[in-house]
Amino acid sequence: MNLQFHDYHPQSDDLRQCVMTGFAGSPKQLPPKFFYDEEGSRLFAQICEQPEYYVPAVERSIFETHAADIMRSLALDGRTLIEPGAGCGRKVRFLLDRASAAMYVPMDISAEHLRSSAQRLAADYPHLPIHAVCVDHTQPFTLPDEIPVAGRIFFYPGSSLGNFSPVEAIGFLSDLRNKAGAQGRLLIGIDTKKSVEVLNRAYNDAAGVTAAFNLNLLRRIRQELAAEVQLDGFSHHAFYNEPRGRIEMHLVSRRDQCVRVADRRFEFKAGESIHTENSYKYSPQEFQELAWEAGWDSDKVWLDPLHYFSVHLLKARKG
Ligand code: AVJ
Repeated sequence: MNLQFHDYHPQSDDLRQCVMTGFAGSPKQLPPKFFYDEEGSRLFAQICEQPEYYVPAVERSIFETHAADIMRSLALDGRTLIEPGAGCGRKVRFLLDRASAAMYVPMDISAEHLRSSAQRLAADYPHLPIHAVCVDHTQPFTLPDEIPVAGRIFFYPGSSLGNFSPVEAIGFLSDLRNKAGAQGRLLIGIDTKKSVEVLNRAYNDAAGVTAAFNLNLLRRIRQELAAEVQLDGFSHHAFYNEPRGRIEMHLVSRRDQCVRVADRRFEFKAGESIHTENSYKYSPQEFQELAWEAGWDSDKVWLDPLHYFSVHLLKARKG
């Protein structure tokens, strides 16, 4: 098989450290990367099926409507495609089916997901060399020496960039720019600013899947850190913070209570929250300006008719 696995052993076991510092601070917080254990990944896939969470369906419709233009502009033939946070590796098939990439490099923090999805891809694309890299792409990372530098194309769909603050996003995009080389490109999906009602509904689906996804963090903390925490003591709260241009997700304490992790006790007042996620939204022009700061020129942008989502193609700026 044409598949190599590079395990850089991402520190996913820093959950304990992040809980200890995140619960001691004010406001209390946790980074969203901890959502994605096995159950969390399953719940996220279910979020993507909810009618209110328009992101995956609208992104897919943009790719389908503009397939020819996207593929022509991307010019993937003979080049290396690198996907940070590749997950189950479903979206990349759209590109791999329509061009002959020279190499595919899926990156993911979860070794099991990465291994199984890379194996499925290797079976379905037997002539495509695949280098799967197990790494936390939200931290500074290096790529294996086997990955050619010339003509790298990065693929970052799904508006994953929204989890970074704008300053962090510029840092991440600059790093991709430096890794991409002179002819480098980036194809990236970005959720747009839109009506508060539509945004709020997307993170408060009627079936309660997003709530379960958020609350799963507490189950994970209880299970993996043997913490004493009442799962019914917290509720899901998600809202669009318009001045800051971001969805915020919180776990709000329903009462005065205390959470115990190892030898530490953390007091929660009724109504006090753990801030678990930000999801920043950018107008096409705002995103182009952010990308410019990071050394990227805008080549093309594709939108759906309602402008609910955007797909940008960026080119590495010279110099
Ligand atoms: C995976 C970060 C793009 O922010 O929309 C979905 C995660 N959280 N519903 C997003 C998420 C709650 C998602 N991203």
